[in-house]
Amino acid sequence: MNHIYFDPEKNALVLLDQRCLPLKEEWFLCTNLEDVIYALKEMVVRGAPAIGVTAAFGCYLLAREAAAAGDWKAKIDQGLNELSQARPTAVNLVWAVDFMRSSWEKSQINSPVELAHLWLELARKILAEDISINRKMGRFGAELLHDGDVVMTHCNAGSLATGGYGTALGVIRAAIEAGKKIEVIANETRPFLQGARLTAYELKQDGIPVKVACDNAAALLMRKGLVNKVIVGADRIARNGDVANKIGTYGVALLAKAHNIPFYVAAPMSTIDPKTPTGDDITIEKRPASEVTHINGQAVVPPGVEVFNFAFDITPNELISAIITEKGVFRPPYSFES
Ligand code: MRU
Repeated sequence: MNHIYFDPEKNALVLLDQRCLPLKEEWFLCTNLEDVIYALKEMVVRGAPAIGVTAAFGCYLLAREAAAAGDWKAKIDQGLNELSQARPTAVNLVWAVDFMRSSWEKSQINSPVELAHLWLELARKILAEDISINRKMGRFGAELLHDGDVVMTHCNAGSLATGGYGTALGVIRAAIEAGKKIEVIANETRPFLQGARLTAYELKQDGIPVKVACDNAAALLMRKGLVNKVIVGADRIARNGDVANKIGTYGVALLAKAHNIPFYVAAPMSTIDPKTPTGDDITIEKRPASEVTHINGQAVVPPGVEVFNFAFDITPNELISAIITEKGVFRPPYSFES
């Protein structure tokens, strides 16, 4: 299913509203940049590569709007800055905005209408390329999985988190396409429940065997020998291979090390940020307390009690057995140069 696309009839960017899954398939329409920034902040769409793809379409909507502004270049400049700050951790967002900006500079276009034309074409290209990158990554990663493996994953690094096919789930899909029998354990991933709601939803749709586990069951499942491999996605990979990914990933990586289970990260090269030396230099997004204090509008924490809601954590490179990309599989020691 295409979950991010521009619909010329509706004249809008159409996003599958991931807040409603798995109960309802609702579509969220963006007709201007404000809608796109809202969709990113509120997690209508989420997952690092999907955030990048959405931002690219957001640039197109911005150029369209700018045509009506007096100083259209200033409007675009301000819009791009706002867009690139919608979520701080996934480097794909800044990557997409920088790519659009530099394509504009190289083109020497001097009209918002022409720029909108260029940016729509590029956004569609980024979307298509993301899917083909994921398929390439999947083929490299599939070599690391064996027939009969049970693979634990954390958060959602599947079709819904990308243009399509997925990074971590793409590796699993590719291994299955290569004829291997693979089962998945999806950690539920509190508080937004990307594992329980989204990973389980898309794997079930594809007929891939999946069981959902509470986040706090990971140690027991590993101890019992019910997990052979862990594969997760990434929001940003520092030059030294430290990985920012969904909160809880670091704990799973420590557990995998303690139980001698390979821990893999699957991510496109655009998620690697050589300008960031180590994980300590990555900004970790803090999200609203209400995501932790409430479930479906119902309070689960006494009123007035403070909570932590860091959206991501950093897994140090020494816990990562390999990083799978579309260019191949990197093994430690990691050193990513620009
Ligand atoms: O807050 P989210 O849902 O955007 O976080 C998503 C993740 O942490 C994913 O694992 C990561 O973006 C990789 S997606 C291919």
